[in-house]
Amino acid sequence: MNYQNILQEIEEEIQPLYKKGQIANYIPALAKINPKQFAMSIKLLDGTTYNIGNTNTKFSIQSISKVFTFTLALELYGRKLYKRVGHEPSGDPFNSLVQLEYENGIPRNPFINAGAIVTTDTLLSKYKDKSFDNILDFIRIAANDSTISFDKEVYNSELEHGFMNLALINMMKSYKNINNEISDVIQTYFKQCSIEMNTEQLANSILFLANHGINPLTNEILINEAKAKRINSLMLTCGHYDASGDFAYKVGLPGKSGVGGGIVAIVPNKMSICVYSPNLNKQGNSLIGTKALELFTSKTGLSIF
Ligand code: DON
Repeated sequence: MNYQNILQEIEEEIQPLYKKGQIANYIPALAKINPKQFAMSIKLLDGTTYNIGNTNTKFSIQSISKVFTFTLALELYGRKLYKRVGHEPSGDPFNSLVQLEYENGIPRNPFINAGAIVTTDTLLSKYKDKSFDNILDFIRIAANDSTISFDKEVYNSELEHGFMNLALINMMKSYKNINNEISDVIQTYFKQCSIEMNTEQLANSILFLANHGINPLTNEILINEAKAKRINSLMLTCGHYDASGDFAYKVGLPGKSGVGGGIVAIVPNKMSICVYSPNLNKQGNSLIGTKALELFTSKTGLSIF
């Protein structure tokens, strides 16, 4: 299969969509990003890379970080983790408060904000003030790249404007589902959201999930096979909030999005893919990114279905 040609076709076919969607504007640091950007990287298990567009541009990974914190927490706590965060799709927006109250402060899954905040809280219970360092180290090991870091401006912007996340964490604290200091947990959560990478670095960092938990390029075991299966299942069912069904229907791959405009996806036993384009659809997922992945699986037949 000529993946480079396919990427070129995709880049041409998404052009009319630049007019659609809207940049994340809940924090000033993201609202000023140029919306007219597109990049896509494919990484095969043997390390072959295919790139198109601005693949050197670093962007805020935002909710894609939830995959890494969930991986770390699942490794530490196993199924005990599910006492505090479920594994069902929420059908609600990523920052919704409503369901959380009905369900007594237990978030539906680790890929909505409330669930990711609980996941981060479990890491703080173990790693204390080294929690963010551990998260960043894990991502650096997964990507085999020690240069990865976070964007302080995005982090500060989140701290100043993260009112909904503060509402979520306060509600969960009152339901006794947050064990550490609110300020410590929320700062770690905002920092992990502010980690920046380009599409190739992100494709590298997620490749272990296409290979049963082992990074095929370094042979590093990041999680065991059974747990890698669960993480992929959750990416398929919950990776795109209230558009998770739509993403599964259109793309047919486990994937995770972030409001920074990135989406990662994996084709089991074959490759990881990362696409970046900052304009978002109504549910907060990259509009062009979703379309690009839909075009990719339609053209190649490489979906899990
Ligand atoms: O916590 C937030 O609201 C953001 N830092 C991350 C949310 C996010 O990426 C949702 N994604 N589509």
